[in-house]
Amino acid sequence: MTNLLPPATLEHINVVPPHGDALHSILSKEGFDVAEAEITSWDGYEETPLHSLKTLAETIGVAEVLYKDEGPRFGLASFKALGGAYAALRVLQRQIALQTGQTVNLEDIRTGKHKDSCAGITLVSATDGNHGRSLAWGCQKFGAPCRIYIHAEVSEGRAQIMRDFGADVIRIEGDYDESVALAKTEADANGWFVVSDTSWEGYTEPPRDVMAGYGVLTREVYRALDRAPTHVFLQGGVGGMAAGITAALVQHWGDKAPRVVIVEPDLAACLFESARTGTATTVHIAEETIMAGLSCGEPSPLAWAILEQEASDFVTIPDTLIPPTVRLLARPLEGDPTIEAGESAVAGLSALIAAMDDPALASALGLDATARVLLIGSEGITDPEIYAKIMAEEV
Ligand SMILES: Cc1ncc(COP(=O)(O)O)c(C=O)c1O
Repeated sequence: MTNLLPPATLEHINVVPPHGDALHSILSKEGFDVAEAEITSWDGYEETPLHSLKTLAETIGVAEVLYKDEGPRFGLASFKALGGAYAALRVLQRQIALQTGQTVNLEDIRTGKHKDSCAGITLVSATDGNHGRSLAWGCQKFGAPCRIYIHAEVSEGRAQIMRDFGADVIRIEGDYDESVALAKTEADANGWFVVSDTSWEGYTEPPRDVMAGYGVLTREVYRALDRAPTHVFLQGGVGGMAAGITAALVQHWGDKAPRVVIVEPDLAACLFESARTGTATTVHIAEETIMAGLSCGEPSPLAWAILEQEASDFVTIPDTLIPPTVRLLARPLEGDPTIEAGESAVAGLSALIAAMDDPALASALGLDATARVLLIGSEGITDPEIYAKIMAEEV
């Protein structure tokens, strides 16, 4: 026992992934190339850090812990900066092409050549914070009006940041899935365009572009490494991040790609439940998890189509692990870097440490002293108030 985290019960399902074609047919290499060329040309683009947490690795008994810190991404504090803004640009591209009957290139939109057209195309989405921030930022950049739907539990701090980017923010009484439904209904009624990070039947292009945008971070990771990690722990909300990263990793490393472990809050474990039942399954969210970005009851079918073919393991974690893990990164073990991480960012690390504290689970996950584990620190301090409470040990 390391005693780094309080004792916890994790649930785990192991499956034998069939490894199919979905990761190529849904997210092609060419799609990742186009997204990467565009996003890396934006002002403020910089690679985010990939840290090796050496003392932590030694303490928990693995060979390496790699932590990709998305906190600094475009000043928006999360990896979501890569997806929503890019998908917005692609919606504008398709719409302006339809209106003018001509091919439209992304650079011309970005540099204001179509600003009158953009001003007449309203983009909307539901969010629990980070996707909406990316969309609002993109809309402001490209000159399109933006409406963001948030659920009752999204903090006022997160809402204000989207307003500061010029978005109209509409708060509803219900939960995340209800905010998604309302965004759809109002968009249909008003001729607005939904830019969602989750997919549904008949709606796949923006969520596909969102996942293609996440390829930027994955490519930064694999270009920095001379061999594949043995495991990657990917936290799931609707599954878009996990599917996008998995697709890019397997396209690059093929059968040497890391074992994919999906981690979710036990309060919102829709991918876990989908693995258990063998089909995309919705769960009811009875209580909001502290991992705000992962509080989704309905998997994205597009993402699930990739994960059901490529993911080996599904793990759920309780909320009690999150504040101590945030503090462990902020006040690191000697020699490790100091990292500011949000609640959803640390889910993978929480699961890894808890698994190494449980010999049966570690063994079921194939984790031992030779394991080299990649973690995605998907956000920095996206909500300063909650972060301050965690650091003050009030949660
Ligand atoms: C910080 C953070 N990490 C992970 C996720 C999960 O991404 P997805 O919903 O694509 O599974 C989210 C989603 O909002 C998030 O905000």
